[in-house]
Amino acid sequence: MMKTVLITGGAGYIGSHTAIALLEAGYTPIIVDNLSNSRAESLERIKSITGKDVAFYQGDVTDAAFLSNVFEKEKAIDGVIHFAAYKAVGESVKEPLAYYRNNLGALITLLETMSAHEVIPLVFSSSATVYGDPSINPISELAEIKDAASPYGSTKIIGERIIKDTVQSGRKLAAIALRYFNPVGAHVSGKIGEFPLGVPNNLLPYLTQVAIGKREKLIVYGNDYDTLDGTCVRDYVHVMDLAKAHIAALSHLGEKAVPYYDVFNVGTGKGLSVLELIAAFERVNNVKLNYEIGARREGDIAACFADVQKIERELGWKAELSLDAALRDSWRWENQQSNA
Ligand code: NAD
Ligand code: UFG
Repeated sequence: MMKTVLITGGAGYIGSHTAIALLEAGYTPIIVDNLSNSRAESLERIKSITGKDVAFYQGDVTDAAFLSNVFEKEKAIDGVIHFAAYKAVGESVKEPLAYYRNNLGALITLLETMSAHEVIPLVFSSSATVYGDPSINPISELAEIKDAASPYGSTKIIGERIIKDTVQSGRKLAAIALRYFNPVGAHVSGKIGEFPLGVPNNLLPYLTQVAIGKREKLIVYGNDYDTLDGTCVRDYVHVMDLAKAHIAALSHLGEKAVPYYDVFNVGTGKGLSVLELIAAFERVNNVKLNYEIGARREGDIAACFADVQKIERELGWKAELSLDAALRDSWRWENQQSNA
C-alpha cells in the first residue's frame, strides 16, 4: 500500500489541506516548499490540527540537487502530489518567463527526479483554465483544450502535455492531472486557510477581507454577462473535498499498470453566480457585505462549471461539503487570522 507521499507546495493553500487529509487517512506526507507564497506557520498548524509531525524540506523544486537529496534522504517515497507553482493569472501576463521557468521547470525537474528514483505515481494540479471559454457547460474532460488566455493557463496546458508525453515515451510513470474548478473554504478548525500575500486576486479571500473591514468594498466584475443575473458563474468546490480527490487519485494510481495517464475534473457540478455567492455568504454568516457592480475584468469568462461524472465513476470521488459549509469555514478562518 502507498504510504509515504511527497507534497510539493505543501505549505500552500491546497497543499496544506491535502496534508491534513492524507494524515487523517493514514498516509505519511512529506512537504517540500520554498515558502515563496506561504508561511512556515502552516506547518505548525497542520501539526496542531492532526497531532502529527510532518517532515518539511524548505527548498525549490526547480533545484535538481535539492530535490534529489530529499528523495535520497526519504528513501521510501511511494508517490508525489505536485502543487508547487505560481498561480496569479494577472502577474503571469507581466512576468511570463518567471511563470514558465517556475511552473514548467519544477515539473520537469520533478519528473526527472522521480524517474531516477523509480517513483511511479504522480498527481498534478491542473486547472479548469485549460478549457478557456467553454462552448458548453457543464464542461466534460472531452471538451476542446483552447489556446490559453494567460501564461499561467499555458503552463497548465503544457504541463499536462509534458506529463502525457513522458507517459507515452514508455517511462515508468502513472499520472493523473486533476483539473480544479474554483477551490474555496478552509479547514473547519479555522486554523488554516487561504493566505493571500498582498491584495487577493480571488473572490473569496477578497470578499472575507471586505466583510471583516480590511478592505472597503468588493467590486463585482460585470453584470452584463449572458447568465441568470448577468454576473459570472463558477463552480466553487470546498478545499477539503478537493484535498480528498487527491487521495482518491493516488489510490486509483496504485491499482493501475504503468504507463498510465488520465485527466479528471474536480468540482461540484453546480454553477453559482457572483451575486448568488454574495447572498449565500451574507445569509450563512449573518453579515452585510459592502459591494457594488463594476466593469468586467479582462480575461473573465461568463460561465464555467464541471461535468463531474467521470471522477465519480472512475475514482469514486464526489464533493460532499456544501457551499454553506465552505462560506462558514472561510469566514471562521478570516476571523481567527484577524484576531490572532
Ligand atoms: P499556493 O500558492 O497557496 O500554493 C503553492 C505553493 O507552492 C506555495 O506554498 C509556494 O510557496 C510553493 N511553491 C511555488 N513554487 C515553488 C517552487 N519552485 N519550489 C517549491 N515550492 C514552490 O497555491 P494553491 O492555491 O494551493 O495552488 C496549488 C496548485 O493548484 C498550483 O499548482 C495552482 O496552480 C493549482 N490551482 C490552484 C487553483 C486555485 O484557485 N487556488 C485553481 C486551479 C489550480
Ligand atoms: N470576482 C469579482 N470580484 C473580485 C474577484 C472576483 O466579481 O474582486 C469574480 C470574477 O469575475 C469571477 C469570480 O468572481 O467571475 C471568481 O473569480 P476568481 O478570481 O476567484 O476565480 P476565477 O474563476 O477567475 O479564476 C480561477 C482560478 C484561476 C484559474 C481560473 C480559470 O483562480 O487559477 O479560474 O480557470 F486560472
